[in-house]
Amino acid sequence: MSSPPIIPFVPCGVLLACAFTVLCALDSIPRKSIPYESSHLKVFRDEGIWNYSSMLMREDLGLLILGAREAIYALDINNVSIARAKASWEVTQEKRNECTYKGKHPDIECRNYIRTLHQINDTAMYVCGTNAFNPVCDNIVYVDRQLKLQGKQEEGKGKCPFDPFQRYSSIVVDGDLYSATVLNFLGSEPVILRSSQTTLRSEFKSSWLNEPTFIYMDVVPESVDSPDGDDDKIYMFFSENAVEYDFYSKLIVSRVARVCKSDRGGQRTLQRKWTSFLKATLDCPVPGNILPYVVQDVFHVRRDKWRESVFYAIFTSQSASDDVSSAVCAYSVFNINKVFSYGKYKTPVSVEGSHVKWVMYTGDLPVPRPGACINNAARDSKIQSSLDLPDKTLQFIRDRPLMDDSVKPLTDKPLLFRRGISFTRIVVDRTVALDGQPYLVMFIGTDNGYVQKAVNYDGEMHIIEELQLFKSPEPISVLRLSTSMGQLYAGTASGVVQMPVADCSRYSSCLDCVLARDPYCAWDLSTQHCISLPNPSKDDDLVQSLKEGDPARCPDPGPTKAKNRTLVLGNNIKLPCQKDSTLSEVKWSFAKQPLNPSSRRYSIYSDGLLIYNASAADAGSYTCGSVEQVLGKQYYRTLAVYELHIPAPVDDNKDNTTDGISTTELMTTAPIAVQPSVPQPRSTGSSTVAIVIALVTVSGMLVGLILWNCYKGHLSLHRQHPIKKPMMLPQHDSSPYIKQQDSASESTEQTEVFLYPNNIQRNGTNASPLKYVMDESEI
Ligand SMILES: *[C@@H]1O[C@H](CO)[C@@H](O)[C@H](O)[C@H]1NC(C)=O
Ligand SMILES: *[C@@H]1O[C@H](CO)[C@@H](O)[C@H](O)[C@H]1NC(C)=O
Ligand SMILES: *[C@@H]1O[C@H](CO)[C@@H](O)[C@H](O)[C@H]1NC(C)=O
Ligand SMILES: *[C@@H]1O[C@H](CO)[C@@H](O)[C@H](O)[C@H]1NC(C)=O
Ligand SMILES: *[C@@H]1O[C@H](CO)[C@@H](O)[C@H](O)[C@H]1NC(C)=O
Ligand SMILES: *[C@@H]1O[C@H](CO)[C@@H](O)[C@H](O)[C@H]1NC(C)=O
Repeated sequence: MSSPPIIPFVPCGVLLACAFTVLCALDSIPRKSIPYESSHLKVFRDEGIWNYSSMLMREDLGLLILGAREAIYALDINNVSIARAKASWEVTQEKRNECTYKGKHPDIECRNYIRTLHQINDTAMYVCGTNAFNPVCDNIVYVDRQLKLQGKQEEGKGKCPFDPFQRYSSIVVDGDLYSATVLNFLGSEPVILRSSQTTLRSEFKSSWLNEPTFIYMDVVPESVDSPDGDDDKIYMFFSENAVEYDFYSKLIVSRVARVCKSDRGGQRTLQRKWTSFLKATLDCPVPGNILPYVVQDVFHVRRDKWRESVFYAIFTSQSASDDVSSAVCAYSVFNINKVFSYGKYKTPVSVEGSHVKWVMYTGDLPVPRPGACINNAARDSKIQSSLDLPDKTLQFIRDRPLMDDSVKPLTDKPLLFRRGISFTRIVVDRTVALDGQPYLVMFIGTDNGYVQKAVNYDGEMHIIEELQLFKSPEPISVLRLSTSMGQLYAGTASGVVQMPVADCSRYSSCLDCVLARDPYCAWDLSTQHCISLPNPSKDDDLVQSLKEGDPARCPDPGPTKAKNRTLVLGNNIKLPCQKDSTLSEVKWSFAKQPLNPSSRRYSIYSDGLLIYNASAADAGSYTCGSVEQVLGKQYYRTLAVYELHIPAPVDDNKDNTTDGISTTELMTTAPIAVQPSVPQPRSTGSSTVAIVIALVTVSGMLVGLILWNCYKGHLSLHRQHPIKKPMMLPQHDSSPYIKQQDSASESTEQTEVFLYPNNIQRNGTNASPLKYVMDESEI
């Protein structure tokens, strides 16, 4: 651990780990990836306003209070597109000049970023802004459908950061504001502060806080049902530079710390400072990784009995290589409490003169235990408050706030792991499924505007889906959950988006609904729909199988209705078939025989089959199916069936209907407009060979590239960044043709050969091929 030479081996270790599938096997891919266009979101953005970075849920008022740059909004909690009220809070010109004069950017840093929003009582809220590197706080009220700032202009130093880009955290407990941020303009003096009648702060020592990044804090009511009269605690999460490792370079570690709510500081030692500040390392062990992962956000899953409460934390890899990955670990409050209440301390020892090493403290501990809250035992020995604590206890804790034991996650390994993505924010919902069991569903915001919805089933990582919430890849900077409304609210620099925790209607079949393993959704056998839970339907009629993903109770969907398609001799024909899960594999068969995917006469894409230079032998029945593997079992589903037939030669004038398409329809459809560009099949013969060869070569090169990338670990075998389109898999009907055509550098005339069948697809009727056939087959 202490030898510097291991650092150069880290990227190598990551690569080997992936090559030997330790890490790759850990990776999980979302079963569905929902693009922005299909997400059906409610969006809020205001002209000229940016940086929507703080939110306060006011379910009591039906509002979502939103803090942005120089503005505060009261949005309708049911539909964030509706702004009920707005309050502007701009920086004065004087403050702006002052800030600019100190060397900050006038249009970026010298503005007022609303970072703090807390509820004080039914009407009043507490709000702080960076105010051009000069933080101030105020009260704001929502009365008569208006948001009104009270103009208190309270000092915000230590309550709100100076720097709009700096992370920080705060909460209000019993009317007191607890904040973890910096005290000075330079940002060099970190502090954990309680603004109350007896203001308390942390000691300014690197053993307390060493260039920390504050992430999250919350209160745990540990005094409730406490047999030893314990106090409530405020837990905080941050990352900081380690003091305890002798790495040559900076090593960032994740920490959980806590203070007692009734702390009043010491009498002589630690006057007006925390006497109960204890911190411990937060472990999120990712197999094959040497540098610790760094905590990025935390969510407190509260339970009525605090001992059952859990903190969910997201972590990202430390920059040892450009290969970013993220993980989720969960920690029980009870386990964290145990480390602080019974664990060993670390103590600094001087070696070789000035060099300091941190080792486990093995000497006797002073009484009361350093850092412990005042409990019944202390009160029995006449210590009523922290002011009565003996100097020995206080001196001990002043110099040794770090525990020797680290806090280990539940299940000792990440609940979720993803390669190639940075997680930024997390919320966790607890929902009761059909089996009566509660499930914790994670919603994780990423740095590219997506939300991942994931569950861990008995150690198995499962990402139900990922949704693209923002068109441009921007980091999600705030994420909130309303359990009662079943809604999620996400904010970025450019806007705010509202989404439901589940949209079961997206699952179109019983198999799809059940294999999604979404705790919010079940298949209703009586209505043949995927419905959201809870539902008044009889449970007997509902199918859900979360841990097993077993669709055995799904009815046989019966034969799929075949679609007629016309075969155009010598042309390329596309049969669309969109797979409904990224975890499934598309299988095509022709005349009941599996199609050979390596055949040069076909290309199988994620959205369809392409038949090159169709001949009479290609006529027949095509079936597209998906095979989805869940927990080692394979489930087959027919997605589409096509009947490809060669039309009988027809006389244009006599037989004006075929396949039920009327003449009028024929006349009004696109082919007429396209006619001028209709190519001459005869001239395409030899160039089609060239195209086929070029296509095969390009495909081969792409496959090689993918394999190489996979081996190098840039792409996991499973999937990459959600923003990237599947490499060979066209999204639109036209893309593969045009793209590959370009790479084969063919003339535009041939491009049209390929384009033409696509028009047929887009029109989606049999009319156009028919017309086409009439034009071509009679030449
Ligand atoms: C939400 O509000 C917007 C703006 O008023 C409106 O256009 C939209 O239809 C509303 N959506 C719903 C689902 O009510
Ligand atoms: C709410 O808090 C504000 C500020 O502390 C106070 O002025 C106001 O009287 C309080 N209102 C109620 C209803 O308690
Ligand atoms: C504010 O929004 C702008 C515009 O999107 C962005 O460039 C900037 O980084 C954001 N600032 C903060 C502090 O997030
Ligand atoms: C498809 O075409 C065949 C023969 O051309 C015909 O018998 C059948 O009814 C057609 N089916 C549909 C759905 O149009
Ligand atoms: C073809 O169209 C003409 C004119 O619209 C119509 O009179 C005739 O009955 C049609 N023929 C058939 C076989 O449908
Ligand atoms: C297309 O198929 C026909 C017969 O099936 C064959 O004669 C012709 O050479 C093929 N053209 C290409 C480009 O493969």
